[in-house]
Amino acid sequence: MAEKDLLPASITSNLGTHFIGQRVIYYPSLTSTMAIAKQEAQLGAVEGTAVIADEQTAGRGRIKRAWLSPKGNIALSIILYPSVVYLPSLIMLASLAVIHSIEAVTGLKSQVKWPNDILIDGKKVCGILIESSVRGNIVDYAIIGIGVNVNLRLSDFPEINPTATSLSDELGRDASRLSLIQRLLVEVEGLYLALQAGGSIYQEWRDSLVTLGKRVRVKSGKIIYEGIAESVARDGSLILRHSDGNLTKIVAGDVTLRN
Ligand code: BTN
Repeated sequence: MAEKDLLPASITSNLGTHFIGQRVIYYPSLTSTMAIAKQEAQLGAVEGTAVIADEQTAGRGRIKRAWLSPKGNIALSIILYPSVVYLPSLIMLASLAVIHSIEAVTGLKSQVKWPNDILIDGKKVCGILIESSVRGNIVDYAIIGIGVNVNLRLSDFPEINPTATSLSDELGRDASRLSLIQRLLVEVEGLYLALQAGGSIYQEWRDSLVTLGKRVRVKSGKIIYEGIAESVARDGSLILRHSDGNLTKIVAGDVTLRN
């Protein structure tokens, strides 16, 4: 369907959420939805405000990487004001929301590569970026950024083709970005409310990790660790078992799965 499908009115009509996505700020093209969401959050935007773009010209990935974000993909940022105790759970929440939505809308099964990649058959279909401003125990705001390769022919993008995939390449046909965005907003709200009601999403997130039990190389800052990804802690850190039997707890890093 045409790009007009992503207009705010199309997204919010019959959305069925209480607050996530009830306000949508849409751009045909912009630098990064993260930048606009940050500005909006600093101005006190209502919780659940979603910033959506058809195309980003300076999409941001983790570790200061660029994120390729051409037309046909989903670029979405959601503004939240969570309590500080929920911050570590946001990456789990976002990952599960993406996996649930992809399966509900396309039937495709996906998995999480710690900490924030969503893979289909070992190839990256979605990246998630969480940015927050925290002062002491006060969270000014947190922004969940989700980029999904939806209707993208990877053969047109040789720079990411070996390691990435898209829903359309997997399906052999286009997928509805509108349905995916609506489902994502519903899933994020459901999981966020469940978390605040005392529910745990840790176990399901842990079960969806492709990383556990695998031999991995993890780049964390300037340090490179190697070992078996043994477990994940409730705060989201990766527990790595080295060949000498020692364990390292890694809070943030970039994982390469080894054979
Ligand atoms: C990563 O895998 O490194 C994270 C990629 C996150 C991309 C999304 S697209 C929507 C939002 N806006 C951005 O500039 N980045 C995030």
